[in-house]
Amino acid sequence: MAPAGDPKLMERVVNLAKRRGLVFPSSDIYGGFRSTWDYGPLGVLLKRNVKDAWWRSMVQLRDDVVGLDAAILMAPKVWEASGHVATFTDPLVDCRNCKERCRADQLPESGACPNCGSKETFTEARNFNLMFKTHVGPVEDDASVAYLRPETAQGIFVNFKNVQTTTRKKPPFGIAQIGKTFRNEITPGNFVFRTREFEQMEMEYFVPPDQAPKWFEYWVAERHRWYLDLGIPEDKVRIRPHDSEELSHYSAGTSDLEFAFPWGWGELEGIANRTDYDLTQHAKFSGEDLSYFDQENDERYVPYVIEPSAGADRSTLAFLLAAYDEDEAPTGEGKVEKRTVLRLDPRLAPIKVAVLPLSKKDTLLPLTDEVAKALRPHFMIDVDLAGAIGRRYRRQDEIGTPLCVTIDFDTIDDRAVTVRDRDSMAQERIPVDRLVDELRDRLGGAC
Ligand code: GAP
Repeated sequence: MAPAGDPKLMERVVNLAKRRGLVFPSSDIYGGFRSTWDYGPLGVLLKRNVKDAWWRSMVQLRDDVVGLDAAILMAPKVWEASGHVATFTDPLVDCRNCKERCRADQLPESGACPNCGSKETFTEARNFNLMFKTHVGPVEDDASVAYLRPETAQGIFVNFKNVQTTTRKKPPFGIAQIGKTFRNEITPGNFVFRTREFEQMEMEYFVPPDQAPKWFEYWVAERHRWYLDLGIPEDKVRIRPHDSEELSHYSAGTSDLEFAFPWGWGELEGIANRTDYDLTQHAKFSGEDLSYFDQENDERYVPYVIEPSAGADRSTLAFLLAAYDEDEAPTGEGKVEKRTVLRLDPRLAPIKVAVLPLSKKDTLLPLTDEVAKALRPHFMIDVDLAGAIGRRYRRQDEIGTPLCVTIDFDTIDDRAVTVRDRDSMAQERIPVDRLVDELRDRLGGAC
């Protein structure tokens, strides 16, 4: 089902992202580089807020999950054990007419080449491994081969014993990690939706085998709730269980959380029951015993793993798309004009508070400085001096700033400022002395 709404939404969001410094094409001055993207000053704040919200809900607010930051380069044997060397492949075909390379499983039903439209046949499908290969050290031979990790999960599995023994956690418990991941995708595209370098937010939850079905259901519901809580409307996110032929080599069951992207439903996150596959494989390949001894029940077992695995870039894109809106706002001269507004949850908004002196005149600048200094330790703020106040509100609205604080000539006498709300556009006069507490209340603690 294609989502209802603006057919140009994607274009509008990509343009806004470039225009306002959220996301730039990578190596822009060289004409870009193969679907790679750089997060600009506002984008880095937005994506960090997404990752922080994930970390807060997955680690900080729980007593059964701990964190990890494992290296991107790992022993090559890890990828043999995990099955990635043998099976992490996509079927690749070439168009005999224009030589375009495509994924055989993503060809249009018409059978025509998506690049040139030719109905000439494609080459036989061959398996293409998605891992980026490199060499460690100065000698480029088979012994120095290493891979850039294609998922963060394996860094967690190989540290299972280290973490379990140092934290003394007992299953059920989880290890969470956020980090860069690399896949040599055949067909990257749709902005940051599918890229070759991206960030994952993954958690491996180790459980007694008989509890795996229960925890699988729990994590599907919990992760669904996370997206709703941060402002994705209910009709824009759905749970889709995988068919058996769609399952990854390690999975006994997977459900995807999908978002209604402008081109149709697309995966935001997969929740998988990875069974004891990974720990058993690593025990076999490394020779380490990765079982757990449950003293209370006097039994030894290899834990099963429930894995919620999300993409930080895809989530960021989904939050941007869901937040994008256009409406009308008063200009201040009795007229109304169209405005673009990102209705981001305050926890995700890059800037929480904008400080706007009504005029650039010297008389207001010391006060502006005073207010900015008072707010900075508490909130991510922006001070904007340039242009008419209406235009400055519009600029903050289109990057999703929830609150603007305006300093005017009355502030000099009454030491009060005007606080304007992004969504309702309501304005209220607040004494400077109460400003931090008032803003904190209105932002629901977001900083
Ligand atoms: N450890 C399991 C795993 O990696 P996955 O479904 O392949 O599972 C998990 O990836 C998440 O990573 C996806 O739901 C998606 O959000 C993100 N992701 C995967 N490939 C991506 C790509 N090429 N570009 C951006 N994000 C990607």
